[in-house]
Amino acid sequence: MIVGSLRRGSFARKIAQNVLPMFPEGYEARIVEIRDLPLYDFDYDDPEVTDKPVPAEYTAFRETIRSSAGVLFVTPENNRTIPACLKNAVDIGSKPNSDVSWKGLPVGIISHSVGRMGGYSSQKNLRLALSYFDMPTVGQPEAFLPQSPELFAGGDTIVRESTVEFLREYVDRFTRVIQEGGTQAGRGGRGVPR
Ligand SMILES: Cc1cc2nc3c(=O)[nH]c(=O)nc-3n(C[C@H](O)[C@H](O)[C@H](O)COP(=O)(O)O)c2cc1C
Repeated sequence: MIVGSLRRGSFARKIAQNVLPMFPEGYEARIVEIRDLPLYDFDYDDPEVTDKPVPAEYTAFRETIRSSAGVLFVTPENNRTIPACLKNAVDIGSKPNSDVSWKGLPVGIISHSVGRMGGYSSQKNLRLALSYFDMPTVGQPEAFLPQSPELFAGGDTIVRESTVEFLREYVDRFTRVIQEGGTQAGRGGRGVPR
């Protein structure tokens, strides 16, 4: 899972932490941190630039993504799009062209907002940013979580049972996309639980 917020009290992170235990047996779900990824600079990936080696953080991130069975994003919305930290991670995973980390990787997206729109525009923008990578995607249901603070009632656990149930169904759907789509997309079933 990748969380599109860096702040300590992030509702996106809380949502992700509530979703992690919903994965069925056989999955090792965890949050992959994006905080320490240096800002994307193509010089690092440009073979003609020899004095700027690829940062170790890029290599580790790319290897983690490539060895994953799927990626589930949880993101808020900043100024009607995805937060810069998340776009940075998307860009880092998109290079080099010869080995795009995202390519064919099953993907799910949960967006949230403290307002009423559930991060609609953020989620659509994330889909757009990923649209080049031929990623099998959870089409329905779409997961927009509005008024996210109310989900937690001041704590860390989602208290609204209908949302918990919805998220369980979402994870179920996502794991089905992994089972079906991961193989279809030619990732060779790498790391795909059977
Ligand atoms: C720079 C900035 C821009 C924001 N823009 C939007 C926005 O376009 N739409 C929206 O619904 N909320 C917006 N918000 C409010 C965020 O949804 C809110 O801060 C939310 O709690 C951030 O997610 P997090 O709790 O996971 O960190 C914005 C917040 C910040 C700091």
